[in-house]
Amino acid sequence: MSFDKMAKTLWTPEIAPSFDPNASIILAEGDCLETLQAMPPDFVKLIITSPPYNLGKAYEKSEADLSTYLEALAPIVEQLVRVLSSDGSLCWQVGNYVEDGEIFPLDIFYYPFFKKYGLKLRNRIIWHYEHGLHASKRLSGRYEVLLWFTKSADYTFNLDRIRVPSKYPGKLHYKGEKRGEPSGNPLGKNPSDFWRVVEEDWESGVWEIPNVKSNHPEKTIHPCQYPIELVERCVLALTNPNDWLLDPFSGVGSAILAALRHDRRAIGCEKEPDYLELARERIHAFYAGNLRYRPLGKAVYQPTGREKVSQVPAEWLVTGEKPESE
Ligand SMILES: C[S@@+](CC[C@H](N)C(=O)[O-])C[C@H]1O[C@@H](n2cnc3c(N)ncnc32)[C@H](O)[C@@H]1O
Repeated sequence: MSFDKMAKTLWTPEIAPSFDPNASIILAEGDCLETLQAMPPDFVKLIITSPPYNLGKAYEKSEADLSTYLEALAPIVEQLVRVLSSDGSLCWQVGNYVEDGEIFPLDIFYYPFFKKYGLKLRNRIIWHYEHGLHASKRLSGRYEVLLWFTKSADYTFNLDRIRVPSKYPGKLHYKGEKRGEPSGNPLGKNPSDFWRVVEEDWESGVWEIPNVKSNHPEKTIHPCQYPIELVERCVLALTNPNDWLLDPFSGVGSAILAALRHDRRAIGCEKEPDYLELARERIHAFYAGNLRYRPLGKAVYQPTGREKVSQVPAEWLVTGEKPESE
């Protein structure tokens, strides 16, 4: 075991219960607006969150209409922009609000919220996954969106920390002064703004972050937890060690864990005590070396075609012939 890992294992983290600029980990119970109001301006380097979606999830009292839902979040957004440092980033992960079968992509509605404060959109990242509910009156939804804004034109972006292996690392310049030299980057290629997510490892063989569903090692009781791996990519690219990360809707603490794994400081706010307690337990498990966790960039299992789930069910093979591929 490395010295760093041993030191972490032996150390019991102190988790401050409310905002304290001298702490390294803060988990504040209650409405995030109160915690945000207690924070100084220009304090955090990265805000990353998946806000409540208004989909009637267990932690949502009732579904409000879209404008009421958005109005309730406006004062929180104002505070978030205030506490974000001038070289900082805000990553806002959202899906669709659905009413009577009509979809309202929330990123479209949130974009003006952030533009109002002069934030600059750097990427609209598509977080694609293969599994989910099957729709019958429209196409099944298979992606969510991560809006990445910066507060100014001068922002932290460590591309080399998040490069992924090139598909053709042996590609060469075919003309000019560098003819015959490798044309790619030895550290890999830019991971692009399209992030594939699979629910189960056997599903696909491209670079992806598995969605957190029941068979994922990180799954807790939270109904819409996101994978630590997704946040890690943002932590590595958009912050430096010791910087502060804030998740105002921290749930069971996935973003907080991503920050701590890379020696950043972290603030989480959560109104539901049960989720907050799970976040505390996961932080302790991390420092004790037994957090259930899927590592960043872990290869995804490639189906061989022999798995039972890859086979066409016998009852579909009425004629005994294989159906044409779709
Ligand atoms: C979409 S979930 C976030 C889940 C989180 N990303 C995770 O991986 O666990 C939104 C969370 O925000 C919490 N929440 C909603 N409104 C809140 C508020 N005003 N202040 C603090 N937490 C709030 C909900 O209880 C819920 O756990």
